Amino acid sequence: MLLALESSCDETAAAIMRPPAELLASEISSQVAKHRPYGGVVPELASRNHLVSLRPVIETTLEKANAELSQMDAFAATAGPGLASSLLMGNTAAKSLSLACDKPFISVNHMEGHLLSPFIGDDREFRPHVALIVSGGHTLLIHARGFGDYKKLGTTRDDAAGEAFDKVGKMLGLPYPGGPEVEKTAVGGDPQRFDFPRAMLNSKDFAFSFSGLKTSVLYTLQKLGEPDAATLSDLCASFQTAVIEVLVAKAAKATRSCGERTLAVSGGVACNNALREALAARCDEDGIELLAVDKTHSTDNAAMIARAAIEKFQRQDYAPLTSDVDPNLSLAP
Ligand code: KG4
Ligand code: ZN
Repeated sequence: MLLALESSCDETAAAIMRPPAELLASEISSQVAKHRPYGGVVPELASRNHLVSLRPVIETTLEKANAELSQMDAFAATAGPGLASSLLMGNTAAKSLSLACDKPFISVNHMEGHLLSPFIGDDREFRPHVALIVSGGHTLLIHARGFGDYKKLGTTRDDAAGEAFDKVGKMLGLPYPGGPEVEKTAVGGDPQRFDFPRAMLNSKDFAFSFSGLKTSVLYTLQKLGEPDAATLSDLCASFQTAVIEVLVAKAAKATRSCGERTLAVSGGVACNNALREALAARCDEDGIELLAVDKTHSTDNAAMIARAAIEKFQRQDYAPLTSDVDPNLSLAP
């Protein structure tokens, strides 16, 4: 068994997994309510809260897995990317446990966790695929040729997909974080009412850009004045559809161009039902297998860190206790 910790941003999370991919417990202590008054994550507040939450979260996880620390064969934690002061909390806690229990420490890239998250509970061998990772900090298309063998196909030139959802949510006066609020408000709205730009939809590469779309929503809002409930819903639906159309088209094209038959989608934005439905329809048309992360493991969690750590454990890919966190850790060149 292996205990993994995640603390890269504002969620304190722990999970216990047994090879090959059996999740025994996964706990998340969310700080969303603490950061909401500031409209975003306050790093100092996040790290202080990780310190308070780590011990109870680890204890609850052990209890739910009906396990003891002494039964763990390894300890893992996120090393980056993320907020340095937040990363240090989970990382240091896992290293301390590893030292106290005399078991190896495994250092995990947060993005590799997201990449592996559709494979939680999937005990088949790692299979080559194209991964679309859409979170608050990243929009990435990766060709995963094997575990640890990743080629970056494209990323965003400006805002990440989740960041665009959050900024548009804020502009529309919706609570933080904007992503789930925009999705809720879009239900029943007219996605055709506002013709927002689909940036780089037809570009030959796999790059994305969402800042023009965000600005276009802002200008529309300035022209409209205070929107009524129906207009707000149409704005959300039109914005959401513009993001989704580009994500789906580029992910399908990337899968085809890499000659893969599987597309895996993960990250916080993968919670979005409209995105899941659009991807499913497109993959069905193209004869591609879609592996969409379970909604419970799409936003930050430690189960995904455990899933990546299991792969590393099986390869005896351990990290020394002197290894550092890296806020800018990258997944692929
Ligand atoms: O993966 P994640 O928890 O954190 C990062 O590593 O960034 O993703 C959080 C992001 C936020 O931007 C949030 O607004 C977005 O995922 N998100 C959504 C939905 N649920 C979360 N975006 C669109 N629709 C949703 N239902
Ligand atoms: Zn994340």
